[in-house]
Amino acid sequence: CGIVGYIGKRDVAPLLLEGLQRLEYRGYDSAGLVITGKPAAGKATTLKMVKAKGRVRELEARVPKRFTGTTGIAHTRWATHGAPSDENAHPHMDPESKVALVHNGIIDNASELRVKLEADGVVFLSETDTEVLTHLIARSQAPTLEEKVRQALQLIEGTYGIAVMHAEFPDRIVVARNGSPVVLGIGEKEMFVASDVAALVSHTRQVVTLDDGEMATLKADDFRTYTTEGSTTSATPTTVEWEAESYDMGGHDTYMHKEISEQADAVDRVLRGRIDDRFSTVHLGGLNLDAREARGVRRIKILGCGTSYHAGLIGAQLIEELARIPADAEPASEFRYRNPVVDPDTLYVAVSQSGETYDVLAAVQELKRKGARVLGVVNVVGSAIARETDGGVYVHAGPEVCVVSTKCFTNTVVSFALLALHLGRIRDLSVADGKRIIAGLRRLPAQIAEILETEGDIEKLAERYAQASSMMFIGRVRGYPVALEASLKLKEISYIHAEAYPASELKHGPLALIEPALPTIAIVPDDDLLEKNRAALEEIKARSGPILAVAHQPQEKADHTIVVPKNETELDPILMGIPLQLLAYHTALALGRDIDKPRNLAKSVTVE
Ligand code: G6P
Repeated sequence: CGIVGYIGKRDVAPLLLEGLQRLEYRGYDSAGLVITGKPAAGKATTLKMVKAKGRVRELEARVPKRFTGTTGIAHTRWATHGAPSDENAHPHMDPESKVALVHNGIIDNASELRVKLEADGVVFLSETDTEVLTHLIARSQAPTLEEKVRQALQLIEGTYGIAVMHAEFPDRIVVARNGSPVVLGIGEKEMFVASDVAALVSHTRQVVTLDDGEMATLKADDFRTYTTEGSTTSATPTTVEWEAESYDMGGHDTYMHKEISEQADAVDRVLRGRIDDRFSTVHLGGLNLDAREARGVRRIKILGCGTSYHAGLIGAQLIEELARIPADAEPASEFRYRNPVVDPDTLYVAVSQSGETYDVLAAVQELKRKGARVLGVVNVVGSAIARETDGGVYVHAGPEVCVVSTKCFTNTVVSFALLALHLGRIRDLSVADGKRIIAGLRRLPAQIAEILETEGDIEKLAERYAQASSMMFIGRVRGYPVALEASLKLKEISYIHAEAYPASELKHGPLALIEPALPTIAIVPDDDLLEKNRAALEEIKARSGPILAVAHQPQEKADHTIVVPKNETELDPILMGIPLQLLAYHTALALGRDIDKPRNLAKSVTVE
């Protein structure tokens, strides 16, 4: 979900709608806004609300002609409690329309509180957990809005990022954060609030990110931050480094296409300033792990969700290969719920594009509580996971807007290559191998550009395969996580069913599925497993299964081969995933899907 709010002098409705559009990728089954302006002489301030099920443009169509005001809050929703509908859309107001509230997160004890409030005669207008909080604030007898919000928050359990307006306190917006991001944008005689800097950067690049347990009061010319207990906190604005333009589509039809196309530059950026040719290693300034500590690490455990988990799987292999430290990756959500054994000699690495994914954050918090050392591999600077970890590597992919991750995946894997090289050179990786990997890393941007030039051919292949109702992705060792990620990408945006298997496992089950209607996409790098992979292709061909190979040379058994340039064996997975991003993209395009906003998915899942 997304929050945006404004207080200042400008006409607020268009500003809020623009902000919502920029946040739409976070979730988008309904949207709404509440505004207020100067009341006519002798009249009391009123809050005016519009809500609509569907996309932001549906909301825009409903906004009346003369809907003016200079203060407002707005929301795009991704349903958790209650189906998408006008009523369940945020903001939520009390029956007297005094309080308006937008909320990201989940209130765990909402049903309990709802029963109590209903017993007290409160009539609920929606099925949401959020409405409970609205009533609690409206019913508070406290003298100030800050105090009302604070009292209400004391009664709830769960996660939230909220923004609140009150008709009796029209000069302010009160916001609070616990587990769901809230960023203040500091302007000239105007203030913004949002759940993501994406909604702010076109207006101001001076931001304050709230911590969990922190609240803020925004007035047109002033803001202050304090804890939910009421003590003042210091908040010095920082400058967002990403340019406002990098949130625009820049001539592409979709953000996904733009982001795929940016990968050569993105990889160049993650390498910049980090390579140390003198010692054939890399500098990672934010790692916070000295050589002695690095030598003491006995295992590495990588945690992430979705695409970031897949990047972690490749990362684990890179670390094992280059640093010879046993490493593996696990979905963060699984890890945190299985009461993991936390070992003092294990280094934990949390991976997240947004730095806000709740499952990853909760895993980090659990690990830290148990005294573990946790590093972050994160794209968004200053995000919750970046702040919660002891150090880490920023991925420097720039803003990623499309729900599904492409350039950030690639940059995350490159970041892991840097981490692996760094750890390797502290341990047993030779100077010669260090040099070899560095040379390979330097070749990546040009090779990515070369792959992107073959887009026309991949588009033709995608059109051919788009009619399939299911696809199989296979790979072995280094190729397997590439297959997993390619299969995820395809299902996320094309809705074609896909599964990924280690090629070695084919004969233990999935071979039963192979038939002329099931295409197999095979990752076939020129490595020590080439012959084994070729044998798998033969097994498939013998059962008349169509094959599309991604390989370093044309594969005889395949119906088609996408040939990618060869790099160092360890780094090849980085390149082999890229044509398959394009394949997923063009398949989804051929099927007329809404590529940037796939159904049922959100860019950043800040709830459990
Ligand atoms: C969501 C997105 C995925 C993403 C995952 C992890 O599920 O739809 O595309 O990979 O979250 O996000 P993160 O920001 O932690 O990398």
